Amino acid sequence: MKEDKASSTAYTVLHGILHTANNPKLTNLVDKEIINACTKILSATSQGRKRLDELKSPIKRKLLPFLEWLLMPGITLNYILRKKFIEEKVLEAIENGTTQIINIGAGFDTLAWRLSKKYPTLNFIEIDHPATSKDKTKAIFNTDSISSNLHFIAADLSEISLDSVLQDSKEFDATQKTLYICEGVLMYLDEIHVSGLFDSLRNLTGKDTIFIFSCLEPPQSSKNNIRVLLYFYLKLKNERYLWYKKDTQLPDFIKKHNYKLLEMADSQIYREKYLPIDYDGTLHQGEYVVVVKVD
Ligand SMILES: C[S@@+](CC[C@H](N)C(=O)[O-])C[C@H]1O[C@@H](n2cnc3c(N)ncnc32)[C@H](O)[C@@H]1O
Repeated sequence: MKEDKASSTAYTVLHGILHTANNPKLTNLVDKEIINACTKILSATSQGRKRLDELKSPIKRKLLPFLEWLLMPGITLNYILRKKFIEEKVLEAIENGTTQIINIGAGFDTLAWRLSKKYPTLNFIEIDHPATSKDKTKAIFNTDSISSNLHFIAADLSEISLDSVLQDSKEFDATQKTLYICEGVLMYLDEIHVSGLFDSLRNLTGKDTIFIFSCLEPPQSSKNNIRVLLYFYLKLKNERYLWYKKDTQLPDFIKKHNYKLLEMADSQIYREKYLPIDYDGTLHQGEYVVVVKVD
């Protein structure tokens, strides 16, 4: 990531969600509340407004599916589907007594913002790189009154460990039943830091802590439909992917870190759960959302 610039991929996620929500075949997948929240966030910064303008331009609207096909076929729909799955799992966890939700590398995700209003007694924390966190807080503080149970922590996790970030924060409560989310982030860390993160979460909040993360198949895997060009693009943006795991390697990795695998979802599961039976568009392949629990 560039030190002083918000993550361009965090912007890309919201841009992609709004683009796909405009598709009449898929519009039912995204609630109005989510569309409003995404639009408010993008409206607050010049980079975001540029993305909103692109969505209004007929030429750029046509260009986006082409770019997607060139780099990561199906990715914009995948943002919506994986977020739907994650939200479902978070709501289930809340039903089952989770009281603290921590989103690591939250980007411009709207879940904590929306749920903090619906669940005033729960504690929500978002952690992100200072440059991205600055744009996010600017966006939210400009457009809304923030519930007192929603907190933002700016930290570069390549410089400081998650343990220190949370232990130094007065908003974090280690005694609460906690669920962590790390969506679209771990691939930017190397294996040592990913392992460190798993250990940190286990040590911070202990047994029964839930962790929801996304993970990618390696570039050379046949289960992956990412194009080679994407890796050049990410290099150019200074947002290179460093960590991958094959779906067949994940159970061992999870066990080694003393977690129990609860669920794993991919595009096939999303298709069955959320898409109309006759949907024939391309789905993104090779990303898993994994739900694990400290054993
Ligand atoms: C692809 S975006 C995903 C955003 C969000 N989780 C989502 O899926 O909508 C990657 C996020 O990771 C964050 N990130 C990347 N490197 C980071 C670091 N070293 N420390 C903290 N956050 C980082 C970026 O700022 C960005 O918000």
